[in-house]
Amino acid sequence: MNTTHHPDKPHVVTLIGSLRAASLNVLLARSIHTLLTDRFTFSTANIGALPHYNEEDEGKPPEQVKAFREMVAAADGFLFVTPEYNRSIPGVLKNAIDQASRPKGMNAWKDKPAGVIGASPGALGTCMAQQHLRNVLAPLDVHVMGLPEAYVQVPAGAILPTGESVDERIRPFISNWSNAFATWVERMKP
Ligand code: FNR
Repeated sequence: MNTTHHPDKPHVVTLIGSLRAASLNVLLARSIHTLLTDRFTFSTANIGALPHYNEEDEGKPPEQVKAFREMVAAADGFLFVTPEYNRSIPGVLKNAIDQASRPKGMNAWKDKPAGVIGASPGALGTCMAQQHLRNVLAPLDVHVMGLPEAYVQVPAGAILPTGESVDERIRPFISNWSNAFATWVERMKP
C-alpha cells in the first residue's frame, strides 16, 4: 500500500470497491485524483489483499491488517468509490471497513471526513450501494459529505486510462463533485 504523504497537503486514502483491472470505478477514482492533485496527496488501499475479518484474530492481526489500520488512522480523509453489487456494496469493501473498525474502541475511521461516489454502466447504478455505504459509515463516525451526490453513469471510453474524462456528459459532473469533496475534506479534516 502506497502511503506517500506531503507535509503541506492533506492525505486522502481512496478505497475502491472493485478489484477489476478494467474497472469503471478505478477510472473514476483516477479521474478525481487527477483533478485534485494540487490539493491532496492520495493513496489507494489494496483492500483485495486483506483477509476476511475474523474476530478471533483481533489480538494477533496479520501484517496486512495492521498496515491497513495504520493507513486509515493516518489519513486526513477518505474517498470511497464503489460499484453496486446486488443492490449493495461489494463484500471486499465491507470487509475493509470492518477490519479498520476494530479492535473494539480502536475504530480507525472515527471523526474523519469522506466522500462517497460510484460508477456503473447503467443509469440507476450505485444509488442503493451508496446509501448502504452511508449507513455503514454513520456509526463509525465518518463524516460523509451529504451533497452533491453522484451516481456516475460511465459510457464506454468516457474516461481514458490516464483518468482524463473525455465525455462532456460526465466531465463537468465529476469536476463539480471533486471540488465539493475537496472543500469538505479541507473543512472537516482532523
Ligand atoms: C453487478 N452490477 C450491478 N449494477 C447495478 O447498477 N446494480 C446492481 O445491483 C448490480 N449488481 C451486480 C452484481 C454483480 C455480482 C456484478 C459483478 C455486477 C453491474 C456493475 O454495475 C458493473 O459490472 C460495473 O461495471 C462494476 O463496476 P467496475 O468493476 O466496472 O468498477
